[in-house]
Amino acid sequence: MNHDRIIVLDFGSQYSMLIARKVREANVYCEIVSHDIPAHRIRDMDPKGIILSGGPASVYQKGAPRCDPEVFRLGIPVLGICYGMQLMAMELGGTVTRAMKGEYGKADLFIDDDTDLFYGILDGGEMHGTPSTLCWMSHGDSVETVPPGFDVIAHTPNTSNAAIRNRALRLYGIQFHPEVVHTRRGNEILRNFLFRICGARPTWTPAAFVDYAVEKVRQQVGDGRAVIALSGGVDSSTAALLVQRAIGDRLTGIFVNNGLLRKGEPERVLSTFRDHFKLNVLYVDATKSFLSILRGVRDPEEKRRRIGHEFIRIFEEEAAKLGGVEFLVQGTLYPDVIESTAADTGPAARIKSHHNVGGLPEKMHLKLVEPLRYLFKDEVRKVGLELKLPEDMVWRQPFPGPGLAVRVIGTVTRERLDILREADAIVQEEIAGAGLIRHLWQSFAVLPVIRSVGVMGDERTYAYPIVLRAVTSEDGMTADWARLPYDLIERISNRIINEVPHVNRVVYDVSSKPPATIEWE
Ligand code: XMP
Repeated sequence: MNHDRIIVLDFGSQYSMLIARKVREANVYCEIVSHDIPAHRIRDMDPKGIILSGGPASVYQKGAPRCDPEVFRLGIPVLGICYGMQLMAMELGGTVTRAMKGEYGKADLFIDDDTDLFYGILDGGEMHGTPSTLCWMSHGDSVETVPPGFDVIAHTPNTSNAAIRNRALRLYGIQFHPEVVHTRRGNEILRNFLFRICGARPTWTPAAFVDYAVEKVRQQVGDGRAVIALSGGVDSSTAALLVQRAIGDRLTGIFVNNGLLRKGEPERVLSTFRDHFKLNVLYVDATKSFLSILRGVRDPEEKRRRIGHEFIRIFEEEAAKLGGVEFLVQGTLYPDVIESTAADTGPAARIKSHHNVGGLPEKMHLKLVEPLRYLFKDEVRKVGLELKLPEDMVWRQPFPGPGLAVRVIGTVTRERLDILREADAIVQEEIAGAGLIRHLWQSFAVLPVIRSVGVMGDERTYAYPIVLRAVTSEDGMTADWARLPYDLIERISNRIINEVPHVNRVVYDVSSKPPATIEWE
């Protein structure tokens, strides 16, 4: 790959991924690797710079994660952040101690030297000539004595060695976190490291990525044929367009309508890919078979299991009809890759099983093509835009694989799906009309099993409520209920009650995750 590369050594910080994203936002390719990677392997990767992440441990703790000390002797610039700085200081002959007073949250960073890492940081911005800027700290330990050959280039009222460097060896350490938004000039500090210190070139753009990925897919697939499961989501859509660009007609999209999609969705996906992008699409309306395997099933996990299996069964059947297919394209993203290779993180507790097309490749003996496996979600969106994917698909909110089946609480029937689908369409329209789609992680309707009494005209009604759910979130792992404007909630409520038969009440879900989850099942 003809792009300069930065690598992040991950010491278990919750921010490692964020560091990598920030580097890539600066158009420099960045990869995360385990902290104990041997130095010779790093040399083989030929990075322009190395960033040591923070981490929860204390450097003197037994079993604290270390890196190969040769990392500091490769002649490659290193930036140690927080724990990474302390580790570097310790390895190179300095000392680290538990500070009398930890420093958590915002702190004034006084810059003592602005010639390299802090170049330009004293200009303009919020400092107006005073040599300090806000940074964000989170540490109990501090570097007490700096290693020989190092000098101090910034301090805070609490931490005298807040930033250190050995200019000749191009080794830098900062106690604060430049990657979090609370560090005002964090992006510039990272950019100084990338461009002034490492001399990296900012060539990692969506267009460059497309060229690279297309070439890679061509090499991998050769004259072979590939299939992809289309869902209408941004990942599979972008992956499909990339692979189509690489191998044209030899890619077939299989679109299984499981009858659990939102209103208008199957039509939209078909017209986009078949008519607009001229992709070969095999469309299967499997509504009946999904409804029949779901008949009488109430348990959410059982619904997921059956839907997952049925999907695989149908997909396999359709792919077999095509014949001669060797490759399966999947829209796997970098966070999934990192998660599945993270050796030191134990298996997270299974709250819900998330079946998508998992299980397909092993069963079908197909080789995987994963053109997005080095991208973060925001990068996929940029690549999607580069490939002219329509904006509403690029910005589509996540939609679960089991679809409306986990939003129709209890047993799933055609009638109950229709009620939910109509209510959900109103939610989508109103949220879109208010310009909120991109601001919300998800917004949707849920149909519970209970009914309640109402009065319409002079008639008593006994009908379903609809639950309105709207959340903000960074990654779906935690979420907060969205503070939607009251008049928007009112409009949604009025429209649903007036326009959707069998509904006489709308309630708003004001639970965060945790302890609730985003979906109701
Ligand atoms: P929860 O409900 O666990 O959801 O807070 C977190 C995110 O995951 C989505 N989700 C799923 N996605 N298959 C999927 O592909 C599933 O079975 C599934 N269950 C939940 C959910 O929509 C939210 O974005």
